[in-house]
Amino acid sequence: MNQDSLYPNQILYRREIAPAIFELRVYTPFLARKARPGEFVLVMADPRGERIPLTIADFDRQAGNITLVVMAIGTSTRKITSLLPGQTLSACIGPLGVASEIENYGTVVMVAGGVGAAPIYPIARALREAGNRVITVQGARNKHLLFWTDRLADVSDQIIVTTDDGSFGRKGLVTEPLVEILRQQPDVRRVYAIGPTPMMKFCALATAPFNVRTIVSLNTIMIDGTGMCGGCRVMVGDKTLFTCVDGPEFDGHLVNWDLLLSRQKIYAREEQCSLERYLQQMEAR
Ligand code: FES
Repeated sequence: MNQDSLYPNQILYRREIAPAIFELRVYTPFLARKARPGEFVLVMADPRGERIPLTIADFDRQAGNITLVVMAIGTSTRKITSLLPGQTLSACIGPLGVASEIENYGTVVMVAGGVGAAPIYPIARALREAGNRVITVQGARNKHLLFWTDRLADVSDQIIVTTDDGSFGRKGLVTEPLVEILRQQPDVRRVYAIGPTPMMKFCALATAPFNVRTIVSLNTIMIDGTGMCGGCRVMVGDKTLFTCVDGPEFDGHLVNWDLLLSRQKIYAREEQCSLERYLQQMEAR
């Protein structure tokens, strides 16, 4: 595609890759040039919309685009995912956050739960390019919610897929193969876990007895992503840190998971009210 005919923040590609999960490719040449694995962007669907932090799931520096994977669960994410190719996001700002530490550690295990498959992909790719042996464990509730398994397999030396209901791959949770790998392969130097908060908590608990450094990404707890709202505060060891400024990646063995899980429910009511209002407006159109 001729880049001269494109507008900044223009949607180039949109596809529903799993129920209510959309892959969007956005033309953002500056951002694509600077993007590194682990970083995120702030996206607004319209000028009066909410700022939504989204982890960069892929980037193509030459073509000048980034890929985002968005789960349409609330008002703003529904607005973002309803934009069609050719339309533009009102804003796409970044890259923000602290990039992943990429080194040759030896053997690393990547654990991706649900939508976590997207943010973990560029990290796995960079770790493989840095010379690591990459073992990936991808999990989802059922086969319909799995996506990018082929992409993850392309950047992994080994991939294990689990589903809670056994509809694809192994039946069970990602922590089961994770523990097996750690028992059988004492050379694992690092584990990355990205997915729902309870999954990351149990991955960190599972790896603690093996004393393997475990990095989690708390991208889902960010609200405005600017360091001002305080909504992404997290206790890491004896420090209070901000996910959007100090993270989103942290040492999973130091995160206070119980506090984090209780804080995540704080805005559930407001989010539900906003979504109901939005759905009523859409119905009235
Ligand atoms: S998301 Fe608001 S302070 Fe970090």
